[in-house]
Amino acid sequence: MKLCVIGTGYVGLVAGTCFAESGNDVVCVDKIAEKIEALRKGVVPIYEPGLEELIRRNVAEGRLTFTTDAADAVKRTVVCFIAVGTPPGEDGSADLSAVLAVAREIGRAMDGYRVVVAKSTVPVGSAERIRAAIAEVTKHPFDVVSNPEFLKEGAAIDDFMKPDRVVLGGTSQRALDLMRELYDPFVRTGNPIITMDNASAEMTKYAANALLATRISFMNEMANLCERVGADVDNVRRGIGYDRRIGHHFLFPGVGYGGSCFPKDVKAVIRTAHEQGMEFPLLNAVEEVNEAQKRRLVDKVVEHFGADLSGRRMAVWGLAFKPRTDDMREAPSLTIVEGLLARGASVAVHDPEALNEARKAFGDRVTYHRVNYDALKDADALLIVTEWNEFRRPDFPRMKQLLRQPVIFDGRNLYDIEVMRACGFTYLPIGRAIVRPAS
Ligand SMILES: NC(=O)c1ccc[n+]([C@@H]2O[C@H](COP(=O)([O-])OP(=O)(O)OC[C@H]3O[C@@H](n4cnc5c(N)ncnc54)[C@H](O)[C@@H]3O)[C@@H](O)[C@H]2O)c1
Repeated sequence: MKLCVIGTGYVGLVAGTCFAESGNDVVCVDKIAEKIEALRKGVVPIYEPGLEELIRRNVAEGRLTFTTDAADAVKRTVVCFIAVGTPPGEDGSADLSAVLAVAREIGRAMDGYRVVVAKSTVPVGSAERIRAAIAEVTKHPFDVVSNPEFLKEGAAIDDFMKPDRVVLGGTSQRALDLMRELYDPFVRTGNPIITMDNASAEMTKYAANALLATRISFMNEMANLCERVGADVDNVRRGIGYDRRIGHHFLFPGVGYGGSCFPKDVKAVIRTAHEQGMEFPLLNAVEEVNEAQKRRLVDKVVEHFGADLSGRRMAVWGLAFKPRTDDMREAPSLTIVEGLLARGASVAVHDPEALNEARKAFGDRVTYHRVNYDALKDADALLIVTEWNEFRRPDFPRMKQLLRQPVIFDGRNLYDIEVMRACGFTYLPIGRAIVRPAS
């Protein structure tokens, strides 16, 4: 099948590449010329495990090309995916301007039947708005399919290649049949392609993200309560996770959720409810809890060292909003590092992939370290913000030697309490008792 994907970001680039990998001819379009130039040379602008290799192979085999010319891409293809960003507007609603601009571009370029697929996360009613925007500028027939994307950054290729489910919203059998044909190779192990109306497909994406964010905020609140009553949230997590009605996923407390999706999608649901004359107090609380949780690690630093951190040096491991990505959009690390700087601390940061992104946020206000241990030198404490695998089994004696004081604020509960005790660290996890070295 010949298809184009307009918007070559985390979603568009992964989707386009994976469709090419299953044998389709794919044109990826972006308005940023440097991004397209780089991709043509095999330079991938984002970090996503496995992506670079897949792009190289599909480019070499002629199935994947890149362009800034959306009109030309639309003329050469039958299925057109819209995968541009939908950031929150001033009032929290999803900003559809990029989606609608692309819809009009597709409409103007069409010279026959097209399936236009909304892959971006868009609020209920957007398929109708896309349809109207296209109909204004073309007489050619077309269908709009809503096809929300559920991939996770850091595991995006795997998620796209083996999705738990594919959701397709639309009313045209012709369009839905084409989409089924496109997705069939990805669901050969029996996971379903679920078809429904556009509005339900649009809402499904928001419902999924809002529910996941709710689980995170619930566990963060539960962790804070565990700290007060002397329970260990990690035991509680294991104790409830085996209940099949609950399951093990998304029960890990931490420093709050971030990223380009959860914060904006929760906001967008609240906004949609508001527009319908309905409040959504549950999601208001999810947001409020998350904002507080992003400050929790710095609160612990202040409880331990006092509010004035001038003259103190803090090391931070992990800046990306989650492991295996360089994405720092809405990352809790932004709140945490700014909180430390505002209290006068000097900050030394390390992340395996996000240092370039971090430079855009912090400039020369922090020091950057490619090697995690280098950030620890003469620091008064280490803060763990992202649970990269490489932080799980570090050289504790070496860390103790490098740190001015052996203090770890662990926002991800990576370490064993007994190991911390045996190594002589002061260890402050989330929702678990503080470990203090025997005096
Ligand atoms: N990132 C994720 O993990 C994820 C997961 C599921 C769904 N989504 C949704 O997918 C959508 C895209 O997210 P993303 O993270 O890939 O965004 P992104 O910001 O990484 O990428 C968007 C791309 O679209 C390009 N673009 C914007 N306007 C354009 C135009 N008129 N013509 C051509 N290109 C244009 C931008 O230059 C950018 O490269 C959003 O709606 C998001 O909510 C994201």
